[in-house]
Amino acid sequence: MSTRPTFLVTGATGRLGRAVVRQLAARGDALLLTGRSAARLAAVEAEHGVPGRVETLVVDATQPEGAQEAAAEAARRFGGLTGLVHLVGHFGPGPLMLTDVGEYESLLHANFLSAVVTTQAVLPHLGPGGRLVYFTSPLVQEPMAGLSAYAASKAALTTWMRSVAHEVKRRGVHANAVSLTIADTPDMRAERPGLDLSHTVTPDQVANAVRFLTGPDAEGVYGAVVPVHGRFGFSSALAGGPPAAPSAAAAPAATPVGAGRAG
Ligand SMILES: NC(=O)c1ccc[n+]([C@@H]2O[C@H](COP(=O)([O-])OP(=O)(O)OC[C@H]3O[C@@H](n4cnc5c(N)ncnc54)[C@H](OP(=O)(O)O)[C@@H]3O)[C@@H](O)[C@H]2O)c1
Repeated sequence: MSTRPTFLVTGATGRLGRAVVRQLAARGDALLLTGRSAARLAAVEAEHGVPGRVETLVVDATQPEGAQEAAAEAARRFGGLTGLVHLVGHFGPGPLMLTDVGEYESLLHANFLSAVVTTQAVLPHLGPGGRLVYFTSPLVQEPMAGLSAYAASKAALTTWMRSVAHEVKRRGVHANAVSLTIADTPDMRAERPGLDLSHTVTPDQVANAVRFLTGPDAEGVYGAVVPVHGRFGFSSALAGGPPAAPSAAAAPAATPVGAGRAG
């Protein structure tokens, strides 16, 4: 049995995969990275692969057979499995009347049912201290117009994760999620050239949260949704703009956290 933390990382070929893999690998974890595309996975392996420690498997882990194969292969190659980092997901905007029901089904599959299938395959391999990490969106709290299918699929994932967290914590397994706003990646910049980048987050900020949730400091954290939202926020014309920064003359000097009081 391996004493090294060992994770199955699904959807490792995506926009956040490299930062997550880099951080977990730097901690010394053993990783089995999966994706459906041999070419995309080979590119990730060329950058991060370490024989016997960071390996890849071409498989569709969102299908029951593929998920079973991936979980068993991770446990076989590394002598055990500590958890799952489920990066598989898909974004798809569209107003209700222009969105075919097939698109709803495909978003539910990519964002919700894929997590069900992969978790069912991984769970039998996990012991106390096990970790399950999923990825959701602030649109669950405030679903905006034109994003109903995506928001509903992430809402299903989030509610499901919180329910499952209660089930699996009895055996010491921790299920949690990272909620993120748009990540600043080369793909995103190419697709959305007009975006206000000050409201995005970096892949490394997301990976920091993954490292926390998969590490010893998250012991006892069950069913949490860790917000990596950067400066993103919802606004309404009714609320007006954010308050102006107080002028130096009018505002009392802030006391730094931990500073002692004089007198
Ligand atoms: N990037 C963001 O700004 C952002 C924002 C909010 C939430 N998230 C969530 O964070 C997670 C990771 O984000 P990301 O940007 O890295 O994701 P991504 O690049 O969109 O996708 C990650 C991987 O998921 C796999 N995948 C997508 N659709 C699939 C399907 N129908 N069946 C099977 N596999 C599928 C693809 O791997 P292969 O095709 O190689 O198999 C893809 O490389 C996702 O759950 C995403 O929804 C991301």
